Amino acid sequence: MAETNDNNLREIRTDAKKRLYPYVAPKWAEALRWKPRYKIDLCQTNTPIQKWYLPEIPNSFEIYIKREDMTGGATSGHKIRRLEFNLAEALEKNCDTVITRGTISSNNCRTAAVASKELGFNVHLCMYKAKMKNQRLPFHGNHCIDRLVGAHLHLNPEPTQTNSTKERDELYHSLRIEGYSPYIVSSEEAGDVGLFGYIDCFDEMIKQGVTERFSDFIVTCGTGQTVAAFIIGNYRNGGKLRLHALSVLDDQATLRKAIIDSLKDVAFLREDYPEDDFSSLINIMDESVFPGYTFFTDKHVEFISEVATRTGILLDPAYTGKSAYTMVRMIQTTPDIFRGKKLLFYNTGSVFGLMNETFTRTAIRREPIDEF
Ligand SMILES: Cc1ncc(COP(=O)(O)O)c(C=O)c1O
Repeated sequence: MAETNDNNLREIRTDAKKRLYPYVAPKWAEALRWKPRYKIDLCQTNTPIQKWYLPEIPNSFEIYIKREDMTGGATSGHKIRRLEFNLAEALEKNCDTVITRGTISSNNCRTAAVASKELGFNVHLCMYKAKMKNQRLPFHGNHCIDRLVGAHLHLNPEPTQTNSTKERDELYHSLRIEGYSPYIVSSEEAGDVGLFGYIDCFDEMIKQGVTERFSDFIVTCGTGQTVAAFIIGNYRNGGKLRLHALSVLDDQATLRKAIIDSLKDVAFLREDYPEDDFSSLINIMDESVFPGYTFFTDKHVEFISEVATRTGILLDPAYTGKSAYTMVRMIQTTPDIFRGKKLLFYNTGSVFGLMNETFTRTAIRREPIDEF
């Protein structure tokens, strides 16, 4: 009988370990706590910055877009940047299993599942439904990829608080009892090395001239980890940009606390930092939270379809679709909140969020097929 080349996960991880290399942080980030020891290259870096001809923008404003949707294929979006550190740490610690959590349509889960499989890990995803009535399991691009790559899914059938880690922690302990060595990917834990993915991204943007070329920088926020790294980068490099954090998950006060906690965790802020000073570092807005985490309105659907048709940029309905919509409204109604008129929108991705029933219906209505 012919010999088969069965995937031996341990062997794949052993090979992946050879790809680890010692991490050298940018000079401006050297003093931060929890600096990772190793990194592994998992994404396309130097993603382009392009002019973005968004509809309905006054002529006095110029909008640009940082294309983090181009970091990869099935791993596209900015989250892969943090996995370059998390998965390096998991390999270094000889873990065999990766656990992460998110909603059933989570970009984080999809990215972690694909990248972890590539490196030979077992994957367990703790999935939850956001609190909202009339929910059913959607067919969704991210969810489909999770299943295609064979991630073990653990779904809590009840709507769950977005910050509850109970099920994930129970899963961690039961996997340990079964003899696995799990690694949790989570930006909410103290000492998460993932933040350095965004530190490196900011360093990349400095080299692309971002701090010199733009007046304002717009970032879509969930946990706030990404923007925490950008606050450090901006501050330590002269504070030239006005940063705007557009929350899609929590109200202003909750997001502010989460960002401040991240900044204290890496010893950028002192433990007794007075929260009142924070507005000089960042402007936090929560207009994009409506109508609830992972939900969107017909106006968002219309906006996302219009932007796709006019500019070829595909926005995520749970994240960038809502924040870009808010940014456009702000430019139209309260332009003074911006420091200047040359804005950079950090496009965190990801296109798979559009692969669902709503956007399939919208796309079919938009362009009818001509028959030959
Ligand atoms: C497309 C997209 N944008 C933005 C974010 C928010 O990033 P952070 O949690 O670091 O604030 C996420 C998080 O899942 C995301 O998937």
